[in-house]
Amino acid sequence: MSNRRVNLPYFDEILAELEDQNEDMETVFGKHIHWGYWEDPKKAEGTYEDFRRATELLCEKVWSLGKIKENDFVLDVGCGFGGTLSSLNEVFSSLKMFGLNIDQRQINRAKKIVKAEGENQIDFVQGSASKLPFKDNYFDVVLAVECIFHFPDRDEFFREVQRVLKPGGYFAISDFVISFQLPGSMNPFFKGPGIPFYGNIQLCRFQKYKDLASKFNFEILEVEEITDNVLPTYPIVKNIFSKNKVGHFLTLVAQISQLTKIIRYKNISFQKK
Ligand SMILES: C[S@@+](CC[C@H](N)C(=O)[O-])C[C@H]1O[C@@H](n2cnc3c(N)ncnc32)[C@H](O)[C@@H]1O
Repeated sequence: MSNRRVNLPYFDEILAELEDQNEDMETVFGKHIHWGYWEDPKKAEGTYEDFRRATELLCEKVWSLGKIKENDFVLDVGCGFGGTLSSLNEVFSSLKMFGLNIDQRQINRAKKIVKAEGENQIDFVQGSASKLPFKDNYFDVVLAVECIFHFPDRDEFFREVQRVLKPGGYFAISDFVISFQLPGSMNPFFKGPGIPFYGNIQLCRFQKYKDLASKFNFEILEVEEITDNVLPTYPIVKNIFSKNKVGHFLTLVAQISQLTKIIRYKNISFQKK
């Protein structure tokens, strides 16, 4: 598959800065490209190093919901630079892991920086969340950390996860959920070229996840509301993208949306029935 449909301007910027060996970018988004989690947001230090630890914590919270155990087959969809699998690689020793990403450039970096330890096996493949290149009933756990809002269609993705998961398998995600539904024709984020900087984004209400669970035969196991715990992310992201006025402004809009709870951040886990 070609990169034709990839519209992720912020990744162009992150990749260019990493290529230029920008150490701050390496610290902030060199491993994980998602928001941070602070158990006590008042204790956030406001440094890039503190943010990096917080991104590690966020990914651990999501994969913990997947109830992963040794010898499991694990798929991470929208795997970025392989940060989530790298985190699992540090904790487990006999997992079979696949990372899937639409963007070949990210796959190339993941392959370069993440090397399997012990008996772990890791493979990174390019492909779409809407058409997972794996057999039916193959995985024990599927993860999707802070990426579903980019996918063209949540129904297609859930259908695919249902297909590739073994019966009883776990599916854990993190996502931004919106408090109200914009009518399709008014959704400025997703159709056509998407928004500047952040590209194609489609937010949904939490109700959509309840509907998806019932439509595709999943049980919702846990829901963690962590909106306040991720808020210290925003000053860091505004800072790291300070040269990009549009990126800075849109991150401010997202910050205000979360401060006012128009947008919430949730970790959600499902089990295939
Ligand atoms: C915010 S990043 C999160 C990356 C990674 N999960 C992490 O937490 O570090 C969103 C990711 O979704 C990927 N993505 C976007 N659309 C996709 C699609 N249709 N299929 C697979 N991956 C996609 C992007 O390339 C990017 O790696």
